[in-house]
Amino acid sequence: MAQPEKFDRFAKRVLANQYSEKSAAELKTQLSQYAIAMTDWAARNRSANPTGPGCFDALNTLMNATNATSAGNKDNYRVPNMPVSYPAIWLTQQEDRVLWNGAVHNMAMRRVGEVIGVFGRTKVTPVANGLKFETTADLKELDKMYDTLMDLQPPKWPESIFAAIDRAKADKGAKIFERESCAKCHSNRPPYPQTEPNIYGKQFIKVTLVPFQEVGTDPTYAVYFVERTASTGILAPMFKGSAYEGKSDVPAAVMFLGLLANFTMSGLQELKPTPDELVSMLGHREMPTLPKNDTEVNELVKSLLVYRAAPLAGIWATAPYLHNGSIASLHDLRLPPEKRAKTFQTGNRQFDPARVGYQTAPAEGSTKFDTSVPGQSNAGHLYGTKITDDERAALLEYLKTL
Ligand code: HEC
Repeated sequence: MAQPEKFDRFAKRVLANQYSEKSAAELKTQLSQYAIAMTDWAARNRSANPTGPGCFDALNTLMNATNATSAGNKDNYRVPNMPVSYPAIWLTQQEDRVLWNGAVHNMAMRRVGEVIGVFGRTKVTPVANGLKFETTADLKELDKMYDTLMDLQPPKWPESIFAAIDRAKADKGAKIFERESCAKCHSNRPPYPQTEPNIYGKQFIKVTLVPFQEVGTDPTYAVYFVERTASTGILAPMFKGSAYEGKSDVPAAVMFLGLLANFTMSGLQELKPTPDELVSMLGHREMPTLPKNDTEVNELVKSLLVYRAAPLAGIWATAPYLHNGSIASLHDLRLPPEKRAKTFQTGNRQFDPARVGYQTAPAEGSTKFDTSVPGQSNAGHLYGTKITDDERAALLEYLKTL
């Protein structure tokens, strides 16, 4: 905006036949407010723990938007310091739970969360009979957009670009996959194991939630989600009838899930759907409710101190691995932790078909990932690490076929 001619060109294009001196001046004010808000956003959400491409702390950034910005409560901002690896996008619509700790089951909530996370706006205002929840998320369009995601298939290993798959070796790997109980937690290809029918008679792809102590990977992300707190401020009425009624501080996760549910429902109600349409837009999934007593609080906490074992379809294409992206390749994941790379570069765009992951040599725009930084440990998930080198190679060959 320091360059008036540029702004004028922009305003003429944006406003088209609405362009006038007055409307251009209004646009300028809006744009400056937006620029201030974005600068503020960037400063607030700057991670002290930058990990570069492939990893981002979307959850804590989103919780800053819901728990602090939407309720005008600056006390609830926290520095997002738990970057996680981007999970695969295919099959997520059909899965029972999303997020690395499986915290979200309702897909409409997930969509609204994603919009808020990338600059959608939300607002909570106290009104006579409680609170008013507003969101700029367009639930109708989101519904259409996510419908198309149902057709997205896991990518196939491109044999013509990388090496052809050695079928005999992969068959041997399939047996090792069974022998090492991988299938106990991960489904591999259709038909995927399904959950029991829910109240709408619908079933979803079952993901296995494993207590973090059992899988042994870095606990920081799951534990922080449960321990982060938030002050209720104007949101106090939202907790009426729950175990947190009258409390000035509550778990940030409970506030986040409660707010997301309310933003989603208010967004959907605005569309005035019939009961059937509403259920369909909720993806035939139930809405979470706030825990009503200590027993429900304990159950919720326990359910969140887990990591999600998802189907491994297309897993070859999703490096780096584990929730915190601390393992560069599928080859490294099969090694005992002391043999896994302690530091590596992320952001190299060249694929390494032998190790199945991106190359880890420095490249333009790459960043060093250091597994000694808190939250970035590459420990745990020891399944299939005590096998011979030949077996390891066979298992890797099999994982390429998924
Ligand atoms: C007891 C359950 C369990 C067993 C058995 C198990 N896994 Fe996992 N697996 C998990 C969990 C939980 C995670 C996520 C851990 C995390 O992100 O911290 C995971 C993560 C993975 C990942 C990384 C996923 C990603 O998107 O980054 C791969 C690949 C994988 N497992 C393959 C295997 C293979 C191969 C075997 C057998 C040798 C196996 N797993 C056995 C529970 C299990």
